[in-house]
Amino acid sequence: MDAHGGNIYKLAKENKVNLEDIIDYSTNVNPYVHKKLKDIITDSINQIPFYPDLLYENLNNKLRDINKLDGEYVIPTNGAAEGIFLLGRILNKNNILILTPTFSEYEEGFEGKNINHLNYSEIIDENNGFVNKISIKKLMSYIKLYKSEVVIICNPNNPTGQVIDRNNLIEIINLLNEKEIFLVVDEAFIDFYDYNMSLVNLINDVKYKHLVIIRSLTKIFAIAGLRIGYLMTNNMDLIKLAKKELPPWNINIFAMNVVNKLIFDLEYIKNVKEKIDKNRDYLSKKLSPYVEKILPSCVNFLLFYSMDINIKMKLEKKNILIRDCSNFYGLKDGYYRICVKDRKTNDILINAFKEIYGDN
Ligand SMILES: Cc1ncc(COP(=O)(O)O)c(C=O)c1O
Repeated sequence: MDAHGGNIYKLAKENKVNLEDIIDYSTNVNPYVHKKLKDIITDSINQIPFYPDLLYENLNNKLRDINKLDGEYVIPTNGAAEGIFLLGRILNKNNILILTPTFSEYEEGFEGKNINHLNYSEIIDENNGFVNKISIKKLMSYIKLYKSEVVIICNPNNPTGQVIDRNNLIEIINLLNEKEIFLVVDEAFIDFYDYNMSLVNLINDVKYKHLVIIRSLTKIFAIAGLRIGYLMTNNMDLIKLAKKELPPWNINIFAMNVVNKLIFDLEYIKNVKEKIDKNRDYLSKKLSPYVEKILPSCVNFLLFYSMDINIKMKLEKKNILIRDCSNFYGLKDGYYRICVKDRKTNDILINAFKEIYGDN
């Protein structure tokens, strides 16, 4: 089984079709490409002979400004993935606690460390649609048991599409910070949910030395092939280590220019979010007769459970790729994730289900 989504190359080869013939529902990329994207790329071509600004001054300023940060608290990375692997190297801690089921790269990024997994079902106290509250008492007892030094939470969570209530997370960071335990919050999908739910404003409070936020820009700007993300923390020791550890010029000029030009287009992001919300509700409703369970989601993907363990293969015969989630820690056979695309493409997926199972 593929460890990641997005293996359109393998499917195209197997089905003997062109890459463009594959509909990729296995990666969570925004289908509404910004209308200026192509022009920005074309205009950047004449910069190819030059190295990017070694200090990424403009990019750093933009990332700092959009997040209303008071200091030099940002580290741009080659996708959020580079940020995760970087943290694995610079956080000089051994006992890592990962809340699961979640994105598998934390395992790989922190390979070699003592990793403990804690399933959300063990610690969720309250669930209201896609918003969950963690029992602080239970979480802290596991942290004590495992002697955790770093806790990793993906929020909103991939692959469940659920979030942890912001006030609940603040209570958690307050406790962890006091105990000098790091809280790493991966907000790769926050753009599809709500900026106001981010923990970013805590970064300006110098007391939160043990908070690190990971962001991705590849999903919202549909630039997975360009690779850009960033880390935020006010822990200047970590920032120094990160700068030392990263190779120079880790961001290419295309990704840099796209972010510099588009990051303040909040109207675009708002529009994308509104369309995705509508499409997600439609997709979820239309697919529900064909699967056993679809989890409520606040972002651009849906996790569903199907008794038909051949569903992925059946869709692949129709050149549609979905993500088998049975290899996510804490999930079992039958769990699959699909992204939310535009209405027309979603109808192709819905029709594929209809063709497979008949008109329900
Ligand atoms: C939760 C989460 N974090 C980080 C990443 C990596 O994103 P990027 O493409 O920016 O490396 C992903 C990619 O799927 C993800 O799902």
